[in-house]
Amino acid sequence: GYDVSKLLKQTGAVAYDPGFMNTAATTSAITYIDGDAGILRYRGYPIEQLAQHSSFLEVSYLLIYGNLPTPTELEAFDQKIRRHTLLHEELKGFFGGFPRDAHPMPVLSSAVSALSTFYQDSLDPFNPEHVEVSTIRLMAKLPVIAAYAHKKSIGQPMLYPDNSMNLVENFMRLSFGLPAEQYEMDPVVTKALDLLLILHADHEQNCSTSTVRLVGSSNANLFASVSAGINALFGPAHGGANEAVLKMLRQIQADGIKPEDYMEKVKNKEDGVRLMGFGHRVYKNYDPRAKIIKATAHEILGKLGGNDELLDIAMRLEEKALADDYFIQRKLYPNVDFYTGLIYKAMGFPEKMFTVLFAIGRLPGWIAQWREMINDPQTKIGRPRQLYTGEPERNYPAN
Ligand code: ACO
Repeated sequence: GYDVSKLLKQTGAVAYDPGFMNTAATTSAITYIDGDAGILRYRGYPIEQLAQHSSFLEVSYLLIYGNLPTPTELEAFDQKIRRHTLLHEELKGFFGGFPRDAHPMPVLSSAVSALSTFYQDSLDPFNPEHVEVSTIRLMAKLPVIAAYAHKKSIGQPMLYPDNSMNLVENFMRLSFGLPAEQYEMDPVVTKALDLLLILHADHEQNCSTSTVRLVGSSNANLFASVSAGINALFGPAHGGANEAVLKMLRQIQADGIKPEDYMEKVKNKEDGVRLMGFGHRVYKNYDPRAKIIKATAHEILGKLGGNDELLDIAMRLEEKALADDYFIQRKLYPNVDFYTGLIYKAMGFPEKMFTVLFAIGRLPGWIAQWREMINDPQTKIGRPRQLYTGEPERNYPAN
């Protein structure tokens, strides 16, 4: 009920850009996206090459420090992370304070926020040594916290990390191992998880990353900033879509609907139904991450014994959509979430953990972006303007 152009005149030279559709809040040298061409690069390296040749640990190093590590640098990074995996026993005590059925995302953000209380002597964002040790602590401890949040939600005991294992192996063992049993590592699973984490590692100024930067712009420490990012990721419009895709596929299966009939419902916008896992604000072409996942989904699900029928439904939906004018005209293609839920499920993770897995993957991106922001002389405290639509001045009623 208000006229934006009038409001703009009243406020002076202020750009009105809800959702920051066309506003760059920063320069950045970390991630390049060309949404029309379907290109994604970390520090200049195409995502396809990193997916094929690199590891999550190496990609984390690349994002955070700017270049691929030498073998010695990678080994040192790995060792430092292995040395910092233990959680303070008092922090472990936090897990007992949440309700039994707590969602693991708020447990994760609370515990990451609480890290500031355990490392009060090394939180200065402008002290490079503090930043470095906080970086390693977060990389080492966030997967452990994530696994404990999962164990807590299923009522199982929390194991101590085993530092003979790398970050991904340790996370799998802490998530699925039991005290009295030897955990059998499945290299197919660890390799697949490593790949999915690489694909989620950064995506420039998305909602959670922008949150990390905005909170950090007040000179809040790294733990506080990343904790805020985790809460932003918790929202279903951001990190929760992989869970929604799986629910949709299961619904189609349970109702015995043909994929083509479901597509008609989507096109007619019946009950606001959307094809979950399709469309993206930036990609108006096939999401390059979805392409990589699709290529490996069959192989991984074949080996893990995933639900073939759900995969078939997904493939048929995709095939129909790519040939349909509704989707072609609107440039709707599968995004990264279309196949990931199926793979996470086949690995044994409950649906509540899907967004947590996204958070583990996105962590090096958040850290890299926060560090870039802290070192950028152009950084100012984030403080958007507004267009006021409320009451004009009015007087408090006299008695
Ligand atoms: N299924 C059917 N129609 C769709 C879909 C979809 N998945 N996505 C967009 N459309 C249609 C809209 O109805 C609209 O059509 P109209 O012009 O006839 O009204 C048109 O395409 C444009 O859609 P917008 O919502 O304006 O596009 P926007 O860029 O704002 O939204 C979004 C992008 C939120 C991702 C959207 O495509 C969507 O809701 N997708 C499904 C949810 C999903 O998969 N989210 C994950 C995103 S990726 C990530 O977070 C990692």
